Parts: sequence; structure tokens; C-alpha cells
Amino acid sequence: MSQSATFDIRPLTPAIGAEILGADLAQLTNAQFASIHEALINHQVVFFRDQHLSCEQHIAFARRFGALQVHPMSQYNHPDHPELLRIHADENSKAVAGEIWHTDVSAQQEPPMASILYLKEVPAVGGDTLFASMTAAYDALSRPMQQFLEGLTAVHDGAKIWSKVSSVPPGASYPRSVHPVVAVHPDTGRKLLFVNQVFTSHVEGLSEHESETLLAMLYRHIENPKFMCRFRWQANSMAIWDNRCTQHQAIFDYFPARRSGLRATVSGTRPLAVDQAATQSVLSRDADLQAA
Ligand SMILES: [Fe+2]
Repeated sequence: MSQSATFDIRPLTPAIGAEILGADLAQLTNAQFASIHEALINHQVVFFRDQHLSCEQHIAFARRFGALQVHPMSQYNHPDHPELLRIHADENSKAVAGEIWHTDVSAQQEPPMASILYLKEVPAVGGDTLFASMTAAYDALSRPMQQFLEGLTAVHDGAKIWSKVSSVPPGASYPRSVHPVVAVHPDTGRKLLFVNQVFTSHVEGLSEHESETLLAMLYRHIENPKFMCRFRWQANSMAIWDNRCTQHQAIFDYFPARRSGLRATVSGTRPLAVDQAATQSVLSRDADLQAA
């Protein structure tokens, strides 16, 4: 446990996750907000209990991290607050969003920096969320594999998932982008794996067989429990994840119970490839030393 401002910050695992005690997210000083932001960068996902925020307060808190974005699939957005995405499952749900490991909206050119999920209603048991650190996953790869992956790019295609559940309005299209397979975190300079099962359609420059096999290997690698933490929700819990260096999976094991809340999504920047990060001097000193 470490003390930061007035908060206790309690890591869940060495690789990822921390619970922050003593914070009221509806009223934070700038110094308190800075300590939460720092904890997010250090632990990649942070959790809070017993928060009581209106939609306006949820949005105001999220905006302290940066501009908010409206989810491209607008039918899921709150009718009065389009910056809030509705997360809801009940006795009528056959499936829920996020059951497969993913990074939020990675099909966008500039995927979100962070997601801020606030659940008001949760099952008595079940409905946990798993989070995995993509820096830990990258670090655990062999050096030859790291070097091979650093030269690759992959296509992330929104149609891969959203065409199954909804159609885009006339004239619009699903977001589709090319991102480096190994990206560099813009704040920490740490290298990370940036492919996910929901949005990544293929690795560029490889045959279909090679791409599928490589991605299957990486997805299996990512699922190592050493890179993960698991959050057990309570009503009025809040989770904030750094979407640039994590993946998550929602576990739908609570049918027919209700689980309901809202997510704010903070805009991000285009993921940096290793050579771009080196040009911009973003790479961490550790990474520089490792590469030397
Ligand atoms: Fe998600």
C-alpha cells in the first residue's frame, strides 16, 4: 500500500490494477486528480468503490482526463448524454458486449486513451471484468519475437464485430485503421502489444495462414494470468482503464440477473510505432537500454 495525496493505493497484482481508497470522484482537488491520473499510468487500471455521481458529474470527472468521444455505434449511447455509452444486461440478454478480449474501439485512427465505467446495478455474484497488461505481455516475449513484431502493422476493422450486431447509417462506414503490432505508450515510453481479437482482422504483409497463426499465438500469449487482474464489481463501483496498454474481457456468467451502468470514453491519439516513438524521443530509457 502506498499513500498518494489523501488516498490509499492498493495494487491488485504486480503487473496491473490498483484499488484507490478514500476518493470522492464527484469532488476532487487538482492535486487529488493528479494522483489518480498518476496511479492510472502506473497501474494501467484503477478501481473505486461507493461512488455517487450523476451523469453530469460522471462526464465532468471524465473530462479531466481529456476530451470525450461519442461511441460510433450511436444506438448504445445515452439519449440525453451521448458521451455516455449504456452498458446493460438483463433477463432478455443473449450476449453482452465485451465478452471477448479487446481494446475499446481500436478500429479508430485514434483509439480512446481511457474508458471510465460506472456500474450502478450489479448481480449478487458474477459479472466480473478481467484486465490484462499489454506491456507485461510484450515484456514476456522473447527478444527475437519482439524484434519480429516491431516491424509489423495490422488492420483493425470495426466491421469485424459491429456488422454482426448493427448496420451503419447510409453513407457512413465502420471505422477501419492500420496500427503497429507493437506500439509505444506515449506517457511511459513502454512498448506494448497492440492487437486484439475483436478488431484486428489481419497482419499486413503476411499470408492469411501466417497472419492467423501469428495472431492466434499472440492471443494465447496475452491470456497468461500473470498479466491480469480481475475486478469484482459492487453497485456504485468505478473502473478506469488506460485503453492504450490494456485489454479487458467482460464475463457474462450472471444471466438472468441485471448488470447496468454507463461508460465515458476519453479521446486518445494515434498509436506510435517503435520507430516513430524513437524519432519523437518517447521511448523509455529502459527500452533504449534494452535495444542498445
Ligand atoms: Fe470494452
